[in-house]
Amino acid sequence: MKKKIAVLASGRGSNFQAVIDAIQDGKIPATCAALITDNPKAYAIERAKKVKIPVTVIDYASFPSREMYERALLSAMQQVNADLFVLAGYMRIVSAGIVRAFPGKMVNIHPALLPGFTGLHAQRQAINYGVKVSGCTVHFVDESLDGGPIILQHCVRVLEGDDEESLAERILHHEHECYPEAIKLFCEDRLEIVGRKVRIR
Ligand code: GAR
Repeated sequence: MKKKIAVLASGRGSNFQAVIDAIQDGKIPATCAALITDNPKAYAIERAKKVKIPVTVIDYASFPSREMYERALLSAMQQVNADLFVLAGYMRIVSAGIVRAFPGKMVNIHPALLPGFTGLHAQRQAINYGVKVSGCTVHFVDESLDGGPIILQHCVRVLEGDDEESLAERILHHEHECYPEAIKLFCEDRLEIVGRKVRIR
């Protein structure tokens, strides 16, 4: 049976696009029931409209406090009642309350090989550190920052002369393969969280 997924995105939404393309191509056995965004200017909204995916905008800037924003977000997520919430360039830390409301039902993509370079500007951190290999990671979301059980990783070489932008672009290309692949595994019921590890069946 097809899973119901919902995507949370804050910006450009190229990973969101990769996921909806993979669904439309029949590669992921799922339907995308909603895009939820904290940013009314997110380009992801245009992408959703093109394929008639319902959009919920919860404009972070319009809330007097983070707690009130989180409450509205939680309520929107409960209404969608998805099997999986896909964070695709959702640029806010998900509160512990929301993580606890959807245990094992939320995944994120991060543009580095976790556990290295958590948080913002991971590609810049990789360039500044001088690593020779970076990549991307898809992981379940837990209460730690980018620290949940890892589902898949792709390696990307850091080339001489790379800067943050060129590395980010090369990593993004891999993200667009890695994320649909990981979501497919989830939707096929092939992922099992065992302690802090993910077993792929
Ligand atoms: C992607 O590179 C994603 O890995 C990153 O933001 C970009 C969003 O691009 N996410 C994070 O850094 C989360 N910590 P997109 O909007 O085109 O998918």
